[in-house]
Amino acid sequence: MKKVLIFLSAALLAAACAPKAPRAIPSDKAVEAKVEKVLEGMTLEEKAGQLVQLTISVLEDGTREAIDPAKLEIIIGQYKVGSILNVMHDAAHSREHTAAMVRQIQEKSMEVIGIPCIYGLDMIHGASYLTDGSLYPQEINLAATFNRDYARMMGRAMAYETRAAQVPWVFSPVMDLGRDPRWPRIWESFGEDPYVQSEMARAETEAIQGEDPNHIDLEHCAVSIKHFIGYGVPVSGKDRTPAIIAQNDLREKFFAPFLACFRAGALTAMVNSASVNGIPTHANAILLSGWVKEELGWDGVFVTDWADIDNLFKRDHVAADKREAVAMGINAGIDMIMDPYDPECVTAIVDCVKDGRISQERLDDAVRRVLRLKLRLGLFDKPVWDYSYPEFGSEQFAQESYAAALESEVLLKNDGILPLKEDARILVTGPNANSMRTLNGGWSYRWQGDADAFVPQYNTIVEALQRRFKQVSYEPGVTYVAGADWQAEDASGIGKAVAAARKADVVVVCVGENSYCETPGNINDLNLSRNQKRLVTALSGTGKPVVLILNEGRPRLIGDIEPLAAAVVDVMLPSNFGADALAALLSGDENFSGRLPFTYPKHINALHTYDYKVSEHRETMNGSYNYDAVMDVQWPFGHGLSYTQFAYKNLVVSAENFTAADILKVSVDVTNTGSRAGKEAVLLYSSDLVASLVPDVKRLRGFEKIALAPGETKTVTFELPACDLAFVGADGHWRLEQGDFRLSCGGLSALLTCTETKVWDTPNI
Ligand code: BGC
Repeated sequence: MKKVLIFLSAALLAAACAPKAPRAIPSDKAVEAKVEKVLEGMTLEEKAGQLVQLTISVLEDGTREAIDPAKLEIIIGQYKVGSILNVMHDAAHSREHTAAMVRQIQEKSMEVIGIPCIYGLDMIHGASYLTDGSLYPQEINLAATFNRDYARMMGRAMAYETRAAQVPWVFSPVMDLGRDPRWPRIWESFGEDPYVQSEMARAETEAIQGEDPNHIDLEHCAVSIKHFIGYGVPVSGKDRTPAIIAQNDLREKFFAPFLACFRAGALTAMVNSASVNGIPTHANAILLSGWVKEELGWDGVFVTDWADIDNLFKRDHVAADKREAVAMGINAGIDMIMDPYDPECVTAIVDCVKDGRISQERLDDAVRRVLRLKLRLGLFDKPVWDYSYPEFGSEQFAQESYAAALESEVLLKNDGILPLKEDARILVTGPNANSMRTLNGGWSYRWQGDADAFVPQYNTIVEALQRRFKQVSYEPGVTYVAGADWQAEDASGIGKAVAAARKADVVVVCVGENSYCETPGNINDLNLSRNQKRLVTALSGTGKPVVLILNEGRPRLIGDIEPLAAAVVDVMLPSNFGADALAALLSGDENFSGRLPFTYPKHINALHTYDYKVSEHRETMNGSYNYDAVMDVQWPFGHGLSYTQFAYKNLVVSAENFTAADILKVSVDVTNTGSRAGKEAVLLYSSDLVASLVPDVKRLRGFEKIALAPGETKTVTFELPACDLAFVGADGHWRLEQGDFRLSCGGLSALLTCTETKVWDTPNI
């Protein structure tokens, strides 16, 4: 514990000594002048109100479909609350309904406070909370495309459609490194690798906010990048429980996507609900104020996650009561408190300022940040807006969603059964075969996911296969029990499915998970459910070839049934067009090009990431003692097959020797040597061969997705700043150390040498 404390203060010291990096968002004089003008005229109570965000439920009338004017009077009129989130009746509504509700709130807010309210929504994979908006595959799928364009497309559509509903703020993108497959929120972000997360999250952030974060136009929204920081690796694997993260990993890997997004102008960030190294993130001044506000000169808004100030005293026991918790959070760097049901939070802030627990200066700083956000969004001029949104729910967005699904579904194994024969008699079975809910996952029309109730017009897997093939039958075998816990299953149909399999030529078994979100998605066993394994085993007993389709938010263990399958495809959560995409891929109309953005584990005690330490995999030592260590995973990060083959040649690096100031050019020729067109994700890795900390075995440093016709060759060139090869050392400083490195790509590798050690403080130089 002592060591950790010493380390933390060293990091703080480093942060304080670091030369100031350029401001994350350049400040705009007109915006700043207006912030000061508004602030001048505000009372303490009005200021406190700006720092509080409540859920729309507190305004609902008895129908739960409309605003109760008396409640509006209390929440906005009396408490002067500055922000609202969430959806009425805990379900998505139409664009019209959402817009009408926001108009009512804005009218009241402008009338009584003269400051617009800011409404925020959890738009996670497109317009998740609009019944008539567009959905894209979940972020984990976008990562599997290894194609930044899809993160951009989704970001743009999400912002456009959200704005069309008069809402200017989305709680997206999610960039929690998914490095523990047990965690129920793996699918919400871009996988286990910091580089993929950074690239995808930055692309999405830029697309959501548009070109100028100081003047967001009517087709864009503010992001809330989340959840800062270290949320994805709870020790227990359970949501919202403590994480222990080595300080250098926190700085180097977990900070990376946030840093990329802060630098890209992210206007707001939501904080990790749990604790890291014993400190609840909502109370961590070093991380919130030190790493972000001071070091990066970031002038945006830190918003808490759901009820997390209360959690400081109710759950984490680091504060004795509400007021202490409020002061603790705000003094650590929180600017807006999502205290969903409790307008009395405003009074708590007022009290803390009056008794000196929160200084006037900190209060004003937080209020300035909230006002600045509202000004940057143009809300003072246009609390609501008349603007036509012809692309809302457009065919273009639907096509993009389909294309993203196509590039995201990963062919993990194929003994030659795929593509399926045109005239094959196909049995489609399994609990995920006929469900839009499972294709979409959580954050789809409802928090826990409820797509079947909202989008019957799209195709489930069985429907899509029936449209594409002539002889498709369906027998579920195992079903999820409607209305029960998401894990409840009914396995009484296994016998019928086996009987149907006997009459088929091939069996497509759709297994995985039902939808869930956050803490309700906690599990005690990462294995695929016993019923589903029984189903696969029984079907394989018929001797008919089994094609296993995995439709799941995290990699459930299938080590014992994988050998029974002739082919395996992981579709993850591909959303509304995911089944159409699957039918096109299984039939061979389209080619697979997705790759795993995470390591698919094989054993419950071997939950590794691809960038494991070199010391985790070792040959047997000489002598009597067998000190070996074995990496044994189901499929590695980056794995994904195609119906064609690609050959790599001529890996060329611009220099054999380099220093931190250099930019290395790395090129490689990729040829499609098969007979079908295909897309290939070209992945560039580096390995630091000797370092002062045990090095990672390899790290992804670049990726590009290319399309190749049969016989075609393309040269892919990466520009790799040599300082990207640095790591954070035990003292919290970035280090690029003298010595040898290996770059590798597609089975080729090149050795090169760093000729001079360089150490620096600020993240990236
Ligand atoms: C989740 C956040 C979400 C927030 C608001 C929380 O429970 O952790 O990701 O943005 O609720 O709905």
